[in-house]
Amino acid sequence: MNAIVAVNEQWGIGANDALLVSIPPDLKRFRALTMGGTMIVGRKTLKTFPGEAPLKGRENLVLSRDRTFQLPGAIVCGSVEEVLEAVKEKDPESVFVIGGESVYRAFLPYCRKVYVTQFCGGEKADRFFPNLDEDPLWQQTEVEPWQEFEGISFRYTLYER
Ligand SMILES: NC(=O)c1ccc[n+]([C@@H]2O[C@H](COP(=O)([O-])OP(=O)(O)OC[C@H]3O[C@@H](n4cnc5c(N)ncnc54)[C@H](OP(=O)(O)O)[C@@H]3O)[C@@H](O)[C@H]2O)c1
Repeated sequence: MNAIVAVNEQWGIGANDALLVSIPPDLKRFRALTMGGTMIVGRKTLKTFPGEAPLKGRENLVLSRDRTFQLPGAIVCGSVEEVLEAVKEKDPESVFVIGGESVYRAFLPYCRKVYVTQFCGGEKADRFFPNLDEDPLWQQTEVEPWQEFEGISFRYTLYER
């Protein structure tokens, strides 16, 4: 499986249960990369989706420890092990860990690649992705040029284990 995330200079990913910034071209790329595949998402991040609903065209595996939690169109998993069981027959390239912080941390050991969109700025974060630049297991293997969208500078990078 692979992870996909947008981080600021401090590897911040969110604040007050929301994204730090919204970069429409990045969201479009996220959609294209994940379409037709399986996404692993935490219950809190799913609540930030439009209508608090699963994303269309993809299998949504939602993590929650609440055994009574149900969501039409999603598969609720109660543990990391339950998710690993659910994806074991799938093409690993089609399985994406999409956050938030607790889910990234739980599944990073199972990821081979991380699609990292780096952006500048955003408000002060209270949720973070592990800093892959400080982790000798991970190398940055691809870096695209900086782009700008409505005043926000961002670039696409890839990290591989
Ligand atoms: N920048 C980005 O690319 C990006 C992407 C995604 C999210 N985010 C941001 O990340 C923040 C949310 O992150 P978060 O860490 O607070 O929440 P989260 O990871 O989205 O969801 C946490 C919830 O997931 C469930 N969970 C987590 N680990 C579990 C496990 N091992 N077994 C069973 N259930 C588990 C629990 O649900 P229950 O409480 O129901 O038990 C937990 O409360 C938001 O600010 C969001 O905007 C940013």
